[in-house]
Parts: sequence; C-alpha cells; structure tokens
Amino acid sequence: MTTDFRLLDAFLPDPQTLSQLVRASGPYRLYVQAPIASGLGVGLTRRHDAALAWVMRQVAAGSVEAMDVQAARTNLFRGTWLERGTGQGIDCDDVIDHEGLAAAAKDLLGMSVVEPYMLYANLLLPGQELPVHHDTPEFVGLDKTNTPEWFLVVCGRSGLFERSRIRVASAVVFIEGNGDLIVYPDGIDAAPSGVPPRANSAIVLDADELVHGVARVGGVDAPAPPVEIGMQLGWEDTWVLRKGEDEVARYASGDVRLSLQWKAYVFADEAERQRVRGSVLDFDVAVARLVRELRDRGRIPGDVPDEVDLALLMMEEFIKLPSS
Ligand SMILES: [Fe+2]
Repeated sequence: MTTDFRLLDAFLPDPQTLSQLVRASGPYRLYVQAPIASGLGVGLTRRHDAALAWVMRQVAAGSVEAMDVQAARTNLFRGTWLERGTGQGIDCDDVIDHEGLAAAAKDLLGMSVVEPYMLYANLLLPGQELPVHHDTPEFVGLDKTNTPEWFLVVCGRSGLFERSRIRVASAVVFIEGNGDLIVYPDGIDAAPSGVPPRANSAIVLDADELVHGVARVGGVDAPAPPVEIGMQLGWEDTWVLRKGEDEVARYASGDVRLSLQWKAYVFADEAERQRVRGSVLDFDVAVARLVRELRDRGRIPGDVPDEVDLALLMMEEFIKLPSS
C-alpha cells in the first residue's frame, strides 16, 4: 500500500491513436444510471461516500448547488473496453499489455505478478469533475458486480478484511482535454498536488489508497453541463450530447476530457495469488464484523440502526476524506 505514484511520458509511439479509438468506440453512456435498489444503503448512490463528502465541502464553503446540478457535474460518461479480463471487441491491447504500466505497477507496489483486468474510457464534459475518493477495492467473493461500491470502500478503509483483499494497481492514461488529477500523497490533511493531464502521458497509482479526484473541466467557473440520466455522448465530427435522437449540446474535441482507466491485480508471487484466491469473504459476515467493530468503538450503543442509517454510520466512521 502506498500513496506514492509514478508518471510515464511518451505513452504510445503515435499519440493520435487513442483519441481516434475513443472517438470510434462511442457513443458513451453515463456512469450512474440509478440509485441502489434494495438492501443495505437502499436509495443511496453507488459512491455515496464520495458524493456526501463533496457536498459537505460545498456546505463548508457556503455554496451548495441543487441536487440535479451536482449529479450533472459528477456523472461522467464511460465506455467499458475490458471488464474482469474479458475484452469488449475494442483493439486496445497496446494499453492493456503496456510494458511501462506493468513495470511501474510492479515498482510502485513492490509486486512481481501483474494481471491487467479492467480498462475503461472516461469522458468528462466542461463543468464536470470527480469528487475526491478512494477507488473501489476488491475482495475475493465481494466486488462491484455483487456489492454496493461504497460498502467495498468501507471494507477496504476498515482494514478488517485484508486477508481477502486483492491488491490492485491503477493507471490513468491522459489523452485530451484539461482538468488536473488531484492527489493527496501526504494525506488528506496536507495540501494536494495537481497532476496536469498532459496528452500521451500516464500516472500509475494505488488508487484504493491514494485519495484522488479530477478538478473541474474548463475551470472553476465552468457551468454545469445539461446532463440527465439516459443521455449519450458520441463523436459526429465533434462531440455531440444526445437525449434519444435529440441533440442537446455540441463540444469541440479539446474541450472534452478523455482518459483511460487501467487496473491490474497485483501479487507478490504465484503462491500469494493462490492464497488470496482461497480467502472468500461473505457479505453478511462482513456486515456483522463491521457492526461488531462499530459497537467496540461505541458507535452503536443500542439496537443496530436501519439499513440507510447503518450505511451512513459505516461511511462516517471508516472513510476519511478531505474536509476542505
Ligand atoms: Fe478513481
């Protein structure tokens, strides 16, 4: 685990390749489509932890935007190019198997086995940003395909389930557009650093540990984009935002922030991979262990709160993000 990071320049020999690939592989759907439908945290959003901390920082700064505006600012467009090791028919092996990424991941995390399993294209419009957050960790048996993402972050930050945790190296490959990557290498109480998204460069980080976000694209005064659930963003000689067939807005190529998000499982060696794979974590067992921990810390003196209040209590106790 580390809050250090590595920067890579001259990522691909032909820097135009990736922007052309992103344009050709749309249209892109919004990351968040609906709130959590049932169970623990019902009605909350997938990353309620990061969204709540972001709103609290707005409250502290004295300027809170309406809920629909906040959603429009933070709901990025995403394309899935590789998911759990399965390709989606997009010719992106140059990135998935990039030797520089694997070498930096090994060096940064002190591991010898690097197993790329995920590649997303992320697109942010002017006025969009990503509130600072930890990435969603993975556990054997529990990952974002079967568990709310805020809960996985709670599990990761609690430190209670490390035996089942799969270590992950992350990278962001910058392609086009502005909006610094904000990172907190010295902790959330120290000043952050801004990493400019220089075209054809990349950053490798332990995104489950290093708090990070994306500064507002287009600058702090950029108005929120007219984004609503169901809209799509595609390339039609320029970027076009559509609601069904209807055109909502157009954006010049350099105004939209394009990046790729790469992730790889990392293991010290083959023996560690086998050991981790055998340590399955069960959702109900994890909830019960967290409730016990909250009792031990005096946070649940009586009955266990209902599903929403318990979710909020877990986030408050275990996930620490910058307050200003
Ligand atoms: Fe992230």
